[in-house]
Amino acid sequence: MGKLIVANWKMNKVRVEAEAFFAELDGLVDNHSKNAYAVCPPATILHYVSEVAPKKMKVGAQNVYYKESGAFTGEISVKMAKDAGASFSLVGHSERRNIFGETNDDVKEKITALQNDGLDVMLCVGEHLEEHDNLKAVLQEQLSVLKDVDIGKVIVAYEPVWAIGTGKVAELQDIVCAHKIIKDYVKNMFGRDVKVLYGGSVKASNAGEILSLDEVDGVLVGGASLDPKQFAQMINTEC
Ligand code: PGA
Repeated sequence: MGKLIVANWKMNKVRVEAEAFFAELDGLVDNHSKNAYAVCPPATILHYVSEVAPKKMKVGAQNVYYKESGAFTGEISVKMAKDAGASFSLVGHSERRNIFGETNDDVKEKITALQNDGLDVMLCVGEHLEEHDNLKAVLQEQLSVLKDVDIGKVIVAYEPVWAIGTGKVAELQDIVCAHKIIKDYVKNMFGRDVKVLYGGSVKASNAGEILSLDEVDGVLVGGASLDPKQFAQMINTEC
């Protein structure tokens, strides 16, 4: 069964760089790969990317604000992201939580706003290094925002904060354990199965072993997704 490979470009790439990325990716992706793939470009090129990305590739926003319109300088609404071609948005990425002070309440509002406008949700959760002993409670608190949400339109990304952009990847058994905690909690609390991606220093050289884990439904990739060669290699992984 195929898995989902998602590129999170963060605050990287302008139009010509995106153009070059897709030109190179085109010749490298195996069109018979069973894996699905998606990209979350910066908001400034969301529209452009949604026009030039391969038809098979979903395009998502990295963030949205939950108000419909108004005096919110610098923010983009769900309607704007949708208008620019996004079919989903990341929500609650640890960089949003830690650098921009986003709370679980904000995350909940964003999920509601996205679902009201028909966009899918990719909810990012994960623990800080010092929270690792308390993993279950930390993840469950972050997942509690899924109460009264259409879980069928949600994917969870488990990204241990200490593994993001650091080159340190969680041990395979720890990835399995965290994914089980997430899946069990969602099933027990909300009665639905949920897909869970792993994120945190995934690159072409370690994606294969991570994607081969049954509990892992895909990967969310930051740094390595900027390179079309690495990203294509991940898409082409047999899992
Ligand atoms: P990384 O980022 O792959 O650069 O660690 C992952 C993410 O933040 O989504």
